[in-house]
Amino acid sequence: MRRGEILTLLGPSGCGKTTTLRTIIGLEHCDAGEVVYDGRVIDAPRRRAFVPTHKRQMGMVFQSYAIWPHMNVFENVAYPLRVRGVGGQRLQQAVRQSLEQVGLESIAERPATQLSGGQQQRVALARALVFEPRILLLDEPFSNLDAQLRGQMRAELKLLQRRLGVTVVLVTHDQVEALSVSDRIAVMRQGRLEQLGTPQQLYREPGTVSVRDFVGRTIVLNGVVDELGGDDVKVRLGGEDALWCRGGAPTSVGLGDRVQVAIRPEHVQVDELPSPPPSPSGRGGNFLRGRIETLLFVGDRYEATLALDIGQQVMAHLPAVDRWQEGQSVCLALRPEDIRVWEDANAG
Ligand SMILES: Nc1ncnc2c1ncn2[C@@H]1O[C@H](COP(=O)(O)OP(=O)(O)OP(=O)(O)O)[C@@H](O)[C@H]1O
Ligand SMILES: [Mg+2]
Repeated sequence: MRRGEILTLLGPSGCGKTTTLRTIIGLEHCDAGEVVYDGRVIDAPRRRAFVPTHKRQMGMVFQSYAIWPHMNVFENVAYPLRVRGVGGQRLQQAVRQSLEQVGLESIAERPATQLSGGQQQRVALARALVFEPRILLLDEPFSNLDAQLRGQMRAELKLLQRRLGVTVVLVTHDQVEALSVSDRIAVMRQGRLEQLGTPQQLYREPGTVSVRDFVGRTIVLNGVVDELGGDDVKVRLGGEDALWCRGGAPTSVGLGDRVQVAIRPEHVQVDELPSPPPSPSGRGGNFLRGRIETLLFVGDRYEATLALDIGQQVMAHLPAVDRWQEGQSVCLALRPEDIRVWEDANAG
């Protein structure tokens, strides 16, 4: 981690995100390796070094919030200060400030059992912030909030984090959340770090198929390499239809190999099928034909399932105009520079 950044752990259920947070804060001991914080080894089994949680200056919001039911909101938030021996005016002020930061000042006296899921998450956040930790560990902190509140909390977290200068490790399942709040994202898979980079790096240059498919949406088509040489690769998709891709292919890929071509939905331009139909794909641009199978209106666009003439189905974005109908014939334009060729993991 870098000081003062928001680092997000992103990955499928069971990949080890919570375990990583618990190891950082000292609720798990590591079996091998070491945890170093600010130049100091805080957990290293080989050296028998271990700094306990309450001496690590880290706050954590647990996936299950862990709000104490027998205390009211104020006392829940005050707890970390009480165990650190803080009381009196200082405690009162710190708790009030923390509650204000998450918008709960008006319900400080409410019993914890009478809180909504979203309010419990806010209490947990206030409790993690109250002793001004230098690292804040957040395990799916907004998963229980409605979409609007979640968007608002994301922006607030970023503001709060910049203001306090605290380093944040955030765990989320939500790709949009990961892409929008993180300075860097660590994609995990089966207990391993698969790729670490900025949101833009991961989105534009995913290193592996699972990063590609986990960070943002991807349209994937299957084909066979028809021409190979330099940057331009021609991939035959079925019948006479082909795609030209710029940017080359992995070195392991040869002529006649089965490959995947991948493109982000926003790079596919969908139009009504003109007459006469466009000429087939060439180095200058790619065209595919298809039919709208289902249309979902999502406000700023339509999300459509398209049955392509090549016999494959894709999900694409259509502009939010009223001319679309299910069953309609359409034409897809794809720029060669937006398409990437991948080795087909299932081929062979
Ligand atoms: N105390 C434990 N002892 C043994 N195995 C554990 C323990 N806690 C978690 N695991 C296992 O370790 C793996 C990683 O669990 P972890 O809770 O870190 O996943 P996660 O990425 O947080 O998943 P989710 O997104 O579902 O919360 C899982 O297979 C889990 O069953
Ligand atoms: Mg978890």
